[in-house]
Amino acid sequence: MKIKEDYIKEFVSSTERAAYGASLFVGKGDKISADKAAVNEMRKVLNNIDMKGKVVIGEGELDEAPMLYIGENLGTGKGEELDIAVDPLEGTNFVAKNLPNALSVIAIARKGNLLHAPETYMEKICIGEGYSKNLVDLNNSIKKNIQNLADEKGTSPENITACVLERPRHKKIIEELNSLGVKIKLISDGDVSGAISVAIKKFKIDIYIGIGGGPEGVLAAAALKCLNSQMQTRLVFQNEKEKERSKKLGISDLNKKYSIEEMVKGDVIFCATGITDGELLKGIKSQSDEFESETYLLHLESKTNKIIKNITKK
Ligand code: FBP
Repeated sequence: MKIKEDYIKEFVSSTERAAYGASLFVGKGDKISADKAAVNEMRKVLNNIDMKGKVVIGEGELDEAPMLYIGENLGTGKGEELDIAVDPLEGTNFVAKNLPNALSVIAIARKGNLLHAPETYMEKICIGEGYSKNLVDLNNSIKKNIQNLADEKGTSPENITACVLERPRHKKIIEELNSLGVKIKLISDGDVSGAISVAIKKFKIDIYIGIGGGPEGVLAAAALKCLNSQMQTRLVFQNEKEKERSKKLGISDLNKKYSIEEMVKGDVIFCATGITDGELLKGIKSQSDEFESETYLLHLESKTNKIIKNITKK
């Protein structure tokens, strides 16, 4: 069932304000304060919306995050029951170091429709629109996935570009891509936009591969669903405690591979506002008593896919 479109403006406002909050800390080397400011601003807006919202992807659990924690109720208590996934500041290092591509992100679905992903890592593989179903698979070797993709594009692996988060854990993936002659775009952080880049033509990325945050995976899935793209994921656990937490969230099969449809059911809204200037969005521009913002808005049911520029009172 469709989410009421009247909500869209308010959700856009929640990432705009969060981005503004974080923007006050750009280049200050203080990612904690930047994150806190983004969380405070986003929460204020969300609590004024006529909805029965619940955070399913948030800033951690109540004991470790006083606000926007998993399970927190949001909104006035009137209106639709919604699942909310938030990342008020995606790319804390980008803000702390004044680097491009910091975003404030939210995704909304009807109650029960977003995967309640734990705060663990997640293996991800994503490709854009128009490919055969299940062309790539986490169980395939890198070589097979790249060859399948190249064959379907009618080209060779040398003409494929893969985006990968630059981390020691990806050494083997990077070596395999190198040996196939694949062009690699390494990103230092920000795997929500890394994953989404496969669906946006101007980025010229054919495939996103690697392990990033689980919560970021669900947010990217929300956007990729609206963009008719493919994504497959699997949770990665570092210890028994993480496994226990996941079971508590209702995940019984810890090795399950998730498709987009299993992570995001039904209608979904995705909003991302730029904090620092980036490849997709301009960052917050502050004037005396106003700020300018750019927000990427996607809504599945209304087929909305646009960038909204706004000027807002501080
Ligand atoms: P933060 O904004 O929380 O710092 O996350 C940035 C990020 O790059 C995510 O986009 C990504 O999913 C995650 O960190 C990867 O985690 P790690 O830095 O531990 O490899």
